Amino acid sequence: MYYSDDIIEEVRTRNDIVDVISGYVKLQRKGSSYFGLCPFHNEKSPSFSVSPSKQMYYCFGCGAGGNVFTFLMEYENFTFPEAVKALADRAGMELPEMEYSEEAKQQRDLKTAVLEVNKMAAKYYYCLLRAPQGAKAMEYLKKRELSDETMRRFGLGYASQYSDELYRYLKQQGVSDALMKESGLMSVNERQGMYDKFWNRVMFPIMDVNGKVIGFGGRVMGDAKPKYLNSPETIVFDKSRNLYGLHIARTARKKYLIVCEGYMDVISLHQAGFTNAVASLGTALTSQHASILKRYTDEVILTYDSDEAGVKAALRAIPLLKTAGIATRVLHMEPYKDPDEFIKALGTEAFQERIDHAQNSFMFELSIIEKSYDMKDPESKTRFFQAAAEKIAGFELEIERENYIEAVAGAYQISFEGMRKMVMNCLMQGVPSRREPRPVKRQEQKEKDSGILTSQRLILTWLTEYPGLFATVKSCVKPEDFSDTLYRKVASMLYEQLEHGEHNPAKITNYFTEPEQQRIVAQLFNTEVPVENRAEREKAIKETIYKVVEHGITQRSRELDPTDMAGLQQLIDAKRRLQELKKLHISL
Ligand code: GTP
Ligand code: MN
Repeated sequence: MYYSDDIIEEVRTRNDIVDVISGYVKLQRKGSSYFGLCPFHNEKSPSFSVSPSKQMYYCFGCGAGGNVFTFLMEYENFTFPEAVKALADRAGMELPEMEYSEEAKQQRDLKTAVLEVNKMAAKYYYCLLRAPQGAKAMEYLKKRELSDETMRRFGLGYASQYSDELYRYLKQQGVSDALMKESGLMSVNERQGMYDKFWNRVMFPIMDVNGKVIGFGGRVMGDAKPKYLNSPETIVFDKSRNLYGLHIARTARKKYLIVCEGYMDVISLHQAGFTNAVASLGTALTSQHASILKRYTDEVILTYDSDEAGVKAALRAIPLLKTAGIATRVLHMEPYKDPDEFIKALGTEAFQERIDHAQNSFMFELSIIEKSYDMKDPESKTRFFQAAAEKIAGFELEIERENYIEAVAGAYQISFEGMRKMVMNCLMQGVPSRREPRPVKRQEQKEKDSGILTSQRLILTWLTEYPGLFATVKSCVKPEDFSDTLYRKVASMLYEQLEHGEHNPAKITNYFTEPEQQRIVAQLFNTEVPVENRAEREKAIKETIYKVVEHGITQRSRELDPTDMAGLQQLIDAKRRLQELKKLHISL
């Protein structure tokens, strides 16, 4: 459970959104709103608006929006409770303890305890590396050209050659066997009982995005196998949701993040000034990783090893990143194997140059496909271009397809028109990925849907701007008439408020704790149509209401059970009222 609704609402009302956002963005008053340059996308003229009456912000350029909590969540990467806490502090409010269920409390306590054990272990390893026993490990890390500062920043350590040192240390600190087992730092077998999982290894603590130690990787100092040993997954360590180095990289505020394969690559890159580098934890990149990355960036530079395994991993990662809405470019390290080796050999500037020339991920994929064709044989070569055309036909936007046709024509020195014809042919025949029934109709349907959603949003926006409309609107548009679950929920909350003579969109936003939902809610209250004057606006409102009611009726009659007599009667009534709506006069 989070804080109670009343507390959240109090925190919100004590923090005026214009005041808070002014601390981050230069705002200028324009009519009843404030405008500034959007902090969430690059722009030259201000489309970021903050409304004092709605206590919400909305960017007409990129669609970012929400209330004062959303802003801090997006700008500072806070979680919802963190945003509440920060704003309570700002207003000098004391927050009560959060309310938890009994089970949630136990889970939380166990998590806290495991994190505490991890911290003790990290400190222990850290000290040992700097003690006489750690001399050999220190020498190893120095040989790998890591500075003291870098070792400190990543909290590197050493696990001694005896396999019960950490166990004895933790025991002495009062940690129970059960808790040690939960932490994943111990192995258990029948003969030896419990003993250290890591020994005689250089230790890399793995931190979550808040810098808490959630697990470890340990590397041998020679060529023994396995080269790396990683903590098993525990209550605090989920490998598919954490990335090595993200706690630092997320604050780098660069346009893109660098994703590489190994711990040592991340460390080397950071030491060379590329503090925006992260790596997955000895596993392949997952779709969860991709959506976490998307919170911090729209662009990823993949710097996977230049061997076959690295290429395979890149080919797997690219579509995952694309699905999450991330554009990917692939960096070529040849003749070196990984970023660590590259930087040691050629240095920072050369690496930056490779970043600047990183390859578009589509062209990278194509270059790999090309390898399975004999480009000296005319027939094979034609089949390659056919494959390329099919891939291009998979892009949804015409402009995107045109851009790639141009890129491929340029890169392979073939005619733009020839390539374009091939792509057109694929589109007409329907390549496998888009072999949907009547694609044109679908597109039309989609546009119609998005039109009705816009109308529904307009109604909600207008209700907050002209609450006087409520009497008219509620007589013909019910919350159930909205097409989307979230829209319906928001509509019924707003109706409820208006029944009580209140209209407070920012409070409604409080109920949604996911930034994505808050963004949609903000959009619901910030939809505009261009109108010249009041008369035009009144006409637009009338037409919009008519459209929404009509759509609701069509929807209901489509779903009506023919034996439902009462439902049928309601539908007939609704149709009659729709006729009356034509005579409706709106006056603002
Ligand atoms: P160095 O060889 O020290 O430069 O390390 P690296 O980070 O370059 O390692 P490498 O490219 O070989 O591997 C990439 C990542 O895969 C490592 O950072 C580990 O997370 C993981 N990894 C490598 N070897 C092993 C292994 O033997 N076992 C496990 N579980 N993971 C490994
Ligand atoms: Mn390496």
